[in-house]
Amino acid sequence: MAKRELSDAILQQKFDELERKSQEALTGGGEKRIEQQHAKGKLTARERIQLLMDEGSFEELGKFVMHRCKDFGLDKEYYLGDGVVTGYGTVNGRLVYVFSQDFTVFGGSLSETHAEKIVKLMELAMKNGAPIIGLNDSGGARIQEGVVSLGGYADIFYRNTLASGVIPQISAVMGPCAGGAVYSPAITDFILMVENTSFMFVTGPNVVKTVTHEDVTSEELGGATTHSTKSGVTHFACANELECIQYIKKLLSYMPQNCEEEAPRLPYTPGNESRPQLNNIVPANPNQPYDMREVIDGIVDDGSFFEVHKNFAENIVVGFARLAGRSVGVVGNQPASLAGVLDIDASVKAARFVRFCDSFNIPLLVLEDVPGFLPGTDQEWNAIITNGAKLLYAFSEATVPRVTVITRKAYGGAYDVMNSKHIGADLNYAWPTAEIAVMGAKGAAEIIFRKEISEAADPQAKLNEKVDEYTRKFANPYRAAHRGYIDEVIYPDQTREKLIRAFQMLENKVATLPRKKHGNIPL
Ligand code: HXC
Repeated sequence: MAKRELSDAILQQKFDELERKSQEALTGGGEKRIEQQHAKGKLTARERIQLLMDEGSFEELGKFVMHRCKDFGLDKEYYLGDGVVTGYGTVNGRLVYVFSQDFTVFGGSLSETHAEKIVKLMELAMKNGAPIIGLNDSGGARIQEGVVSLGGYADIFYRNTLASGVIPQISAVMGPCAGGAVYSPAITDFILMVENTSFMFVTGPNVVKTVTHEDVTSEELGGATTHSTKSGVTHFACANELECIQYIKKLLSYMPQNCEEEAPRLPYTPGNESRPQLNNIVPANPNQPYDMREVIDGIVDDGSFFEVHKNFAENIVVGFARLAGRSVGVVGNQPASLAGVLDIDASVKAARFVRFCDSFNIPLLVLEDVPGFLPGTDQEWNAIITNGAKLLYAFSEATVPRVTVITRKAYGGAYDVMNSKHIGADLNYAWPTAEIAVMGAKGAAEIIFRKEISEAADPQAKLNEKVDEYTRKFANPYRAAHRGYIDEVIYPDQTREKLIRAFQMLENKVATLPRKKHGNIPL
């Protein structure tokens, strides 16, 4: 064989070998490893990307990257791509960046090079102003690499923080996510988890058992149900991976690409905006609950309400919707749960949502029916003061168009907090059923007429009389409207039309905050 032919053959052989390895990596690490992944009820890294991205749009970056570790036998085991697939493409025609960890390669663990690939992608996403989506499925730090892997995590956390408020960041947890690894998703804007196949915790069940003697499974400790109901760490608990990917796509549809842009609008043709069904939702009895979601659905474009954090702090409802085709963030007290009272979890949940919307130019619609803050030692000792202040701060700082509709109760400090005009809301409307006062009539009467009541021949009758008096004076929207705190008292059926006009009027709103490095939100 001539020399040239020989070298060509060797080259060809090397190329074939590389191609074979690359194909293995491309298919998630070979048939066997794909089978193992499927047997766990999970898709492979590439299958997930395929489901997420528009067909044929995905461009992979760094698929020949390999780890640099030579310890613990890793000098004999290399996989192209090193356990994470990274690249860009489109979702419903819009540019996004995505990384998808491949559990079939070293358990998706994060090595120096694995981290470098993610960091590179984050920097591209920031420079080019498009969302980044992380599909997490990893055993955490690549144990063989030691501190190099920890450094890689920190590099990612740092970029997560820099990117916060610049581009939307979405994390789907589709397998293990343990140890310090949880802090990257935690800094991102939204976390989605898949029921039964994903978990997140800082320390796993074994360590928990050793330290606290508690017996707990991974699912109980940090599964999707736990984090969507108890801790609030995750915003969405998805039935399966398909649903998870669908939720990501839906979520993206309400967001702009970055903080300089506005969310995409859907076409809107003006029509009859009267919604008579809204007249029959608030019950005549002020102590009777109703579902604020019915009010939201009655106001926003048909079927457009997409609830976020649905199963956590159910006494407040938050989510995205469209009004006349335009994206809005909705925050509503929920009288159907704990009478819609504000507590620690509700305040934190709503505050984070408000800040997301404000970061990304999404106007805020607040629907208010709140009897006040939840009393009790549990709340006080766990800092309802600091946590309630988060919501107050978040609304006060928001410069996007902000409109409130008080459907029923607006009592005490909660009136101030729930996007009142005093803290910068642009417009406040009230339904005729609104009650705006320092506190409920009974409590108020008992305090301010205590002496008169105790000295009366019939204290109960006196109390009733004073309750009636206080109710007549304050259990309505007119006192606040006389002062201009309420811009207009509107009938429920007019609400949609009023809000469409209000948000159109506010479309070019410009508001700036005093010059500062950054504020100090009461964390
Ligand atoms: C290297 C790892 C790995 C890791 C898993 N693997 N985790 N390799 N580093 N962190 C490898 C396994 O050796 C195995 O390789 C393959 O991935 C699949 O793992 P299995 O254990 O067979 O899978 P499963 O039974 O599904 O269990 C998944 C798991 C478990 C629960 C994630 O692997 C596990 O507990 N891993 C260790 C988790 C951990 O302690 N990570 C470090 C956390 S500390 P083979 O070759 O057998 O297929 C951390 C610090 C970050 O992350 C700090 C940042 C600030």
